[in-house]
Amino acid sequence: MLMELGFDMSRYHEESFGETPPEAIEEAEESAELAQITEELDVTGYAVEFVDEGMSVTITESETIHSASAKLGLHIPKACGMGICGSCKVKLVSGNVNMEHNGGITEEDEEEGYILSCCSKPLGNVTIEI
Ligand code: FES
Repeated sequence: MLMELGFDMSRYHEESFGETPPEAIEEAEESAELAQITEELDVTGYAVEFVDEGMSVTITESETIHSASAKLGLHIPKACGMGICGSCKVKLVSGNVNMEHNGGITEEDEEEGYILSCCSKPLGNVTIEI
């Protein structure tokens, strides 16, 4: 039938990949377990509230304030992601964070309560103003 339609079957190639290798199955199972553990950690994490937007999300202590905003679909500018440029600056209204920046914020800004969201991780529940 295909020859009748003008297809050249000499150029047809078929591959068979066989069964999924056991190590691939094992790797997938480990990934699923890790995802479940992470999900459980999220439940016991810290609440990050974005006061002007009236939105909040729970994140772990290893996640940043910027990732919390991204989870909610909120836009905070971000360029370097390493605490250098200062473009991700937000105001910490309440709570405490661990901010490990690389010079992207002035002491004056810090005294006024500003933090760099890309490199600030919550130490408890926090409230943020974008
Ligand atoms: S994105 Fe550059 S300091 Fe946060």
